[in-house]
Amino acid sequence: MDGIFITFEGPDGAGKTTALQEVSRRLAATANKKIVTTREPGGSPIAEKIRDIILDTAHTEMDERTEALLYAASRRQHLVEKVIPVLAEGGCVLCDRFVDSSVAYQGFARGIGTAGIFQINDFAIEGVQPHLTLYLDIPAEEGLRRIAASGGSRENNRLDQEALAFHQKVREGYLHLVEEHPERIVVIDSQQSKEAVVEQCLAVIRERFAAMFEA
Ligand code: TYD
Repeated sequence: MDGIFITFEGPDGAGKTTALQEVSRRLAATANKKIVTTREPGGSPIAEKIRDIILDTAHTEMDERTEALLYAASRRQHLVEKVIPVLAEGGCVLCDRFVDSSVAYQGFARGIGTAGIFQINDFAIEGVQPHLTLYLDIPAEEGLRRIAASGGSRENNRLDQEALAFHQKVREGYLHLVEEHPERIVVIDSQQSKEAVVEQCLAVIRERFAAMFEA
């Protein structure tokens, strides 16, 4: 596959979704290939339905392994339907969350451990890995503060309702991944201004994939 697969990761409240939209808009202006922006969990009709089951605030009894399997199932469907076709024709996919989210949230924060998460996700992704991951880093307290401050404007899901300790473990998981994959994962400080975050993301992408995005 000739395309470029870029993922955006970060704890809740890192501002990743907003940054991704703006990065995508600005990249599209200079790209010579198709750019597709998408998200996990969801991003295709079947995957969105799985998302609804996972994030339903009424599903408080959901088993943690069930949760991990549902994320992997949603990921698989989304990958096959939305990501692989674009990569196969040489395009660029910007994806909000991927396997790293499962490692951080289910592996670390839920405490399932990383081995099982890698196992089920290896089955789901069949070797399709991101070429680059932009990790928007934010301390858990600040991320939760932002979610609270955004009031009703932002979707409040089952995982947002977890305690501070959970979100601290999510961040720990991400920082562990950063150490393990220094080539693939680039850390962006999300406490900067929105504009600075977007500029940094663009700079990294343009530097890595100059042929596709002439500035
Ligand atoms: P998302 O829609 O990206 O929420 P946000 O906009 O807050 O980042 O993801 C919804 C939630 O799902 C979020 O709390 C992170 C969680 N999640 C996992 O726990 N594991 C996963 O594999 C994925 C993709 C997401």
